[in-house]
Amino acid sequence: MTQIIELLAPAIVAQRPSLIALLQDAVDRGASIGFLPPLAADEAERYWDGVAAEQAAGARLVFAALHADRIVGTIQLALVPKPNARHRAEIQKLLVVSSARQQGLGRALMLAVELAARQAERSLLVLDTRQGDVAERLYRSLGYVEAGVIPGYARSANGKLDACVFFYKLL
Ligand SMILES: CC(C)(COP(=O)(O)OP(=O)(O)OC[C@H]1O[C@@H](n2cnc3c(N)ncnc32)[C@H](O)[C@@H]1OP(=O)(O)O)[C@@H](O)C(=O)NCCC(=O)NCCS
Repeated sequence: MTQIIELLAPAIVAQRPSLIALLQDAVDRGASIGFLPPLAADEAERYWDGVAAEQAAGARLVFAALHADRIVGTIQLALVPKPNARHRAEIQKLLVVSSARQQGLGRALMLAVELAARQAERSLLVLDTRQGDVAERLYRSLGYVEAGVIPGYARSANGKLDACVFFYKLL
């Protein structure tokens, strides 16, 4: 049985090896999530340390899907700190380990983060994904509205510049 839990900074630090492995699994399989393969462990470690620091500072919420005490997925909610944007948040780094995909975990993580956004009184969610990725279909099925497509937005492992779709959802 899989459960979704919130990860506070000490847990992020304690779970660093699993989180690094999760990020490397996604990046090394070509996911467009800010890194290019091969993702070195020290680069992934610096990334998660930054996430832990932002969680501790109250700028970010982090959730994990746990299966038999093992982290099999994560999602983050960046709480935009600007005075004119306290109603807004950005969903980032939805990741499910490749061996546990297509079992509903991605959808469950999205629903958990939406609930957390409501609790944090964030009424506007934004996110983006590479055009054509599985995530694009998931976001549309959850009611995210396409705001637009930016061509050549992010570089892929093969050197190509891919388009990115930007979405929003009013809660
Ligand atoms: C995107 C991702 C998180 C989806 O996770 P998941 O646990 O497989 O997703 P789910 O099982 O909840 O499936 C969500 C929907 O996508 C569909 N789907 C998932 N993987 C699919 C695939 N490979 N091909 C076709 N459809 C797929 C499912 O059918 C489901 O639709 P449904 O609920 O209408 O049936 C996962 O593929 C992943 O980690 N990808 C790499 C990282 C990434 O790209 N993240 C997004 C960043 S924007």
